[in-house]
Amino acid sequence: MIEDKRVTEAAPKKEQRRKFQAIRGTRDLLPPGTALWNHVEETAHAVFGTFGFGEMRPPIFEPTELFARAVGGDTDIVSKEMYSFAESPEPNDPKAVFVKKALDLGLGVEVDDFEKAFGELSSLATISLRPEATASVCRAYIEHNMQQLPQPQKLYYMGPMFRRERPQKGRYRQFYQIGAEVLGGVDAPAIDAEVIEMVMTFFDKLKLPGVQLEINSIGHAADNCRRGYVALLKSELEKVKDKLGADSQRRIEANPLRVLDSKLEHEQPIIATLPKIADHLCDDCKTHYAAVKRELELRGVFYKENWRLVRGLDYYMRTTFEITAQGLGSQNAVCGGGRYDGLVELLGGPPTKGIGFAIGEDRLILSLQEAKDAALATGNQPPFVYIAWMGANAYAAAVRAAKNLRAAGIRVELPPVEQKFGKALERASKLGAQYALILGDNEVAEGTWTLKTLADGTQQKFTEPHLLDFLKKL
Ligand code: HAM
Repeated sequence: MIEDKRVTEAAPKKEQRRKFQAIRGTRDLLPPGTALWNHVEETAHAVFGTFGFGEMRPPIFEPTELFARAVGGDTDIVSKEMYSFAESPEPNDPKAVFVKKALDLGLGVEVDDFEKAFGELSSLATISLRPEATASVCRAYIEHNMQQLPQPQKLYYMGPMFRRERPQKGRYRQFYQIGAEVLGGVDAPAIDAEVIEMVMTFFDKLKLPGVQLEINSIGHAADNCRRGYVALLKSELEKVKDKLGADSQRRIEANPLRVLDSKLEHEQPIIATLPKIADHLCDDCKTHYAAVKRELELRGVFYKENWRLVRGLDYYMRTTFEITAQGLGSQNAVCGGGRYDGLVELLGGPPTKGIGFAIGEDRLILSLQEAKDAALATGNQPPFVYIAWMGANAYAAAVRAAKNLRAAGIRVELPPVEQKFGKALERASKLGAQYALILGDNEVAEGTWTLKTLADGTQQKFTEPHLLDFLKKL
């Protein structure tokens, strides 16, 4: 048990008084900034709803194995960036009982002992904070037999993700994504285009500045398609290996496609001469890609093709896309996504088509904040009234007024202790109130209340019901 030092020691030692700070790469989102987060999320609910998507809320931690299998054990995300920990056994779990008994007897406990006793060492699996949510959505699709529901299932989610990356502007260890997935049904190119159209509509609604969509097709895993291309790419990379940096050299072996992602200046001219995947797609993937482009054009969605767009997760095939926005510096990808037919099957489900995206909400907000006009568009704020009351009778009326005004959706600040009117008005301005409702014993006796507009100092007198009507109409 953790001892509470406040109880056992009279005066806390200096080190116990140390101030805590949010862990590196995490941050507090505070008011009034959170209003913009809410506006963004409400806009997502509204826009995604018009495309027929329903919200789901998967858990924040899952078995590590789920992410390893879905995202890929060799990816940076899984091999370096996940927060994983061993699940401690429940108190009456046979393994826990076994360990306790052994320790009580003064015996050491070896991993082998578990295996001998239970033959189920694998169940001592680790769990991980989710670094992304596509794996969870596919897991849920399988777990809840969603393939038996009308297809495709169109789902979206929003919430925190966790990756142990080096923090910088637009890159955090706890960050937020708003994502959507279409699972099941067919792999018609119209679905790819509609999913992209949905993100672009959302960004448009938010007036996100400088939005640019890049698309690519990375084909499918077959010798006459991506596998053939990767083999060719690898052999071409071997020829220029000496000119590449250490990271790219390592990737030639582990994942040659990822070399195309390199941002290193001196590697750019070398990469420019490498074979391009578009020239090595199989006929079906080529046809699919051409149709996706036509479907985007039909929807008036502007795109740029980028043959180097390969993405950092293993589950993609065919369509991949990324969207960048203004004001973000090097971390300017505000959305990434693509098609992942086969992922559900890889996780133990039936053969299922899939496509989706995730928006980096932190980056989206940063970009909106840089473009000040858009940041101001946080929806209609309710009127804000400060109740300046003085006197016992006035206080009772003030409490009643606060209740009625709040019930009508008006923001009310009711000072908990009496203040002189001058002080009250000063505080009302400081808090940014638009109105001060002046309630003294005289006002209560007369039954007419005074509403002061703080911006210009004008005053109007109202009876209680008229006041409500007036504020509700604002
Ligand atoms: P992702 O490209 O890894 O894709 O992440 C999507 C977006 O999340 C990025 O474009 C970026 O805006 C944001 N993001 C990623 N890491 C961080 C970070 N450390 N700090 C701040 N923002 C970050 C996925 O996660 C896929 N699950 C997307 C997907 C859904 N593909 C198909 N369906």
